[in-house]
Amino acid sequence: MTDWQRTEEEALREIRDAATTAELEQVRVTHLGRKSELALALREVRDRDTGMLLNGIRTRLEEAVGARERLLADEELDRRLHEEVVDVTLPGEELPLGHLHPITQVRRAVEDAFLGLGWEVRDDREVETVEYNFDKLAFLPTHSARSPRDTFFFDENTVLRTETSPSQIHVLEEKPPPIYMVSIGRVYRRDAITATRYPIFLQFEGLAVDKGLTLADLQGTLLHVMRALYGPERRVRFRTHYFPFTEPSIEPDVSCGICGGSGCRTCKFSGWIEMGGAGMVDPRIFENVGLDPEEWSGFAFGCGLERTAQLRHDIPDIRALWEGDLRVLRQF
Ligand code: PHE
Repeated sequence: MTDWQRTEEEALREIRDAATTAELEQVRVTHLGRKSELALALREVRDRDTGMLLNGIRTRLEEAVGARERLLADEELDRRLHEEVVDVTLPGEELPLGHLHPITQVRRAVEDAFLGLGWEVRDDREVETVEYNFDKLAFLPTHSARSPRDTFFFDENTVLRTETSPSQIHVLEEKPPPIYMVSIGRVYRRDAITATRYPIFLQFEGLAVDKGLTLADLQGTLLHVMRALYGPERRVRFRTHYFPFTEPSIEPDVSCGICGGSGCRTCKFSGWIEMGGAGMVDPRIFENVGLDPEEWSGFAFGCGLERTAQLRHDIPDIRALWEGDLRVLRQF
């Protein structure tokens, strides 16, 4: 015969002694679970007195477990609130803060200068067809840039664009003038890597098409942009040149900012620095995109971005801008 009074006392003591909710659960299973002595006995009950006795024990044990459970849960919550508190006054982990690459800085400066004029900024494809990279830009069939010695070809009809000028055709085919746009992005030429040349570089290409535009508009626009990039003292001059898609074609120079125009090593003692190519849109280009050259006029220009970054920061070697060496880049 089980001594139920002793069993109850033992169970109550174990409940009181349970130090964690997990321990308490063990005790509960032992004394109140389906296979506990009490549960088995309750299943066998035949008379009223035993039934009342055992049910009484069960009720008291259940109450004791419930009370102990609430107490332990409160204690555990208290402890966690105490131990897991975050001290927000402790110094944080220091995250190294980066900055924009000098090329990106210049790119943004160019974008700002043109957005200030109300021009549209665009980004075009780097893989071009021969049609857009050369044909529609009126390159003669014999032009040297069409050779695989100068240009990266994927196949007969597909190249890595050699300049941003195909953007001129794309924008002209997309919408009617007036157009004021600048296209910025990577271009590719098969040059050996040296201090002054890199086979990948960036250009910004401007195109304005409207009624009655002249070389004076081109000069004023370039003056604005060069001053935005290099400072308010800059002057711009034009030298005649040749490009297939402009007529007349010119090469713009900006006065040297290192010596102020008196001559130094940076400007090769000329007082001027070459900025790229430019000119009035050739009538053939208008014809190639279905516009009437008698009605529309325009000017275009293209300049290298690395050159701009180099001049701004006095970086003598273009390779520094492509190698990603942090010791170099951290300086700008
Ligand atoms: N695309 C020419 C180059 O890369 C530059 C240029 C752009 C010239 C627009 C005239 C007009 O050399």
